[in-house]
Amino acid sequence: MTEHPKSVSLEGDGKAVYKRLLRMTLPYWRVFMLGIVGMVLFACADVGLIQLLEPLLDGTFVDRDPDVIRMMPFAILALFIVRGLAGLMSSYGMAWVGRRVIKDMRGLVFDQYLRLPVSYYDQQSGGTLISRLTYNVDQVAESTTSAITSVIKDGLTAIGLLGLVIYQNWKLAMFVLVLGPIIALLVRIVSRRFRTLSKRIQNSMGDTVHVADEVIKGHRVVKVFGGEDLEAKRFDEVSEYNRRQHLKMVLAQAGSTTLIQWIAAISIAMVVYIATSDPTMSPGSFAAFMGALIALLRPLRSLTTVNERIQRGIAAATDIFELLDEPPEPDAGTQHIERASGAITFDAVTLTYAGAAQPAVRDIDLQVQAGEVVAFVGRSGSGKTTLLSLIPRFYLPQQGQVLLDGTATSDIHLNDLRRQIALVDQNVTLFNATVAENIAYGLGRKPSQDELIAAAEGAYAWGFIQKLDHGLDTRVGQNGVLLSGGQRQRLAIARAILKDAPVLILDEATSALDTESERAIQRALDSLMQGRTTLVIAHRLSTIQNADRIVVMDQGRIVEVGTHDALLAEGGHYATLHSLQFEQPQADSEQA
Ligand SMILES: Nc1ncnc2c1ncn2[C@@H]1O[C@H](COP(=O)(O)OP(=O)(O)OP(=O)(O)O)[C@@H](O)[C@H]1O
Ligand SMILES: [Mg+2]
Repeated sequence: MTEHPKSVSLEGDGKAVYKRLLRMTLPYWRVFMLGIVGMVLFACADVGLIQLLEPLLDGTFVDRDPDVIRMMPFAILALFIVRGLAGLMSSYGMAWVGRRVIKDMRGLVFDQYLRLPVSYYDQQSGGTLISRLTYNVDQVAESTTSAITSVIKDGLTAIGLLGLVIYQNWKLAMFVLVLGPIIALLVRIVSRRFRTLSKRIQNSMGDTVHVADEVIKGHRVVKVFGGEDLEAKRFDEVSEYNRRQHLKMVLAQAGSTTLIQWIAAISIAMVVYIATSDPTMSPGSFAAFMGALIALLRPLRSLTTVNERIQRGIAAATDIFELLDEPPEPDAGTQHIERASGAITFDAVTLTYAGAAQPAVRDIDLQVQAGEVVAFVGRSGSGKTTLLSLIPRFYLPQQGQVLLDGTATSDIHLNDLRRQIALVDQNVTLFNATVAENIAYGLGRKPSQDELIAAAEGAYAWGFIQKLDHGLDTRVGQNGVLLSGGQRQRLAIARAILKDAPVLILDEATSALDTESERAIQRALDSLMQGRTTLVIAHRLSTIQNADRIVVMDQGRIVEVGTHDALLAEGGHYATLHSLQFEQPQADSEQA
């Protein structure tokens, strides 16, 4: 119903994608139908106006028929009123459906972003992910609505006009119709080209956004390391590529339009020649015939660009559907837990990142009692962050399993599992909201002022928050740019304190703090660690001396486990690390 046989060539995958796209409009079929009714009326009115030329010329000017003369102005008015209303109905109806589909699709893509596993984000650039949500979705809507509008409206108008042409003089019409298939063939050839070009344009849009995004986020690094020239060159390359693809597209588009118009012009010239030598044709009939032929050009032309629009939409939709078909984070867990006691077991765990040659952690066996404080130390890249990221199931180990209170984490409902864990990440994430909203992020309820202050005090953040212009209501800027590194860390700690989860993971949570704040936080953390399992990663060994046990990692394996004193006495890895820091207190503050 929506495919015009002559102008739309959809092969294989494209067809399936387009069907899936149309299925998204199904919930809105009523408005969709209304729009289509508008288009049908519009096409009828258009054809009617051309046909009106015959009585207009023959009836009023040649025969001087008084009935026709009286009716003519009303007929013209009526047709234009119908045409106007129908046009409004179809445009608005289709836009309505289109906007709905855009919103639905954005929602689906966004939901998918929330559910995709961490590993997906490791492999995609942020720019591509964002341009999918913005550019691609718009392209898709263009295809579902404006292209369909053209197909139906222009398609019907074209069919009506063709009918009119045949009705007026079928012999002449046959001559013209021979040209139809030639045009159709041209369209087929051009459409393939459009599809590859528009895919390239989309990818290069993603690259452009990606490069800009990196410069915008990393502008300080770019400045200090003098990366301006490099970045400018990188950007110029992607933009240049984008420009070329666009121009190729324009050339293909304009070229094909011109060609088709030439063919049409030749045929019209010949028709005029033949028609004028046919004595049976009345002036009105000839006018209607010619009028219809000329009027045919516009819808035909629009139908040739429709194909390009549909191809563009299909390219964009293919990309979006691929994303939507990505398997979300596996959540086969069925066990529900209210509040775990927090015992964690790593049972022969090995994890290799996708594409990595070596496992990031291997054969890890470790039992952490509920309420225990375990510190993880080791060289940068030794697998500490990786190991702890298995607990909230950011990644699934290829071998072995992680257990919480004796239950494999893969058997626990993902939401329940993550509710048991408070995390202060190596890279603090703050949202562009107020201090209070950042501390209470994801809490699920509105905390009281006292709770917020208590959490902030626990994180040693209350002092600086009070000094901010609007206190807890101060906005922190995108990812907290308006705060210092240590302040951001303290907000992240406050967030973890407020969450009050049985398992606390601190990954370099105090690395950006001065010694004094760190000591103060350490005291606060000591009390926070009471009654919950705490896993701390720290490079500064001074902060973890009081841990119940210290786990030393190297190249993805656990090489030593013990208390501070025992490990020192052992004289192994830990003792070496410790003596290095003792001699050069700042030597190990390198961060990945
Ligand atoms: N998302 C990832 N994808 C692929 N490889 C990764 C990923 N994250 C880490 N790695 C690799 O896994 C290894 C362990 O990294 P991990 O972040 O666990 O080290 P770490 O001990 O936390 O180091 P640091 O002390 O510097 O934070 C490294 O060799 C790193 O290159
Ligand atoms: Mg780390």
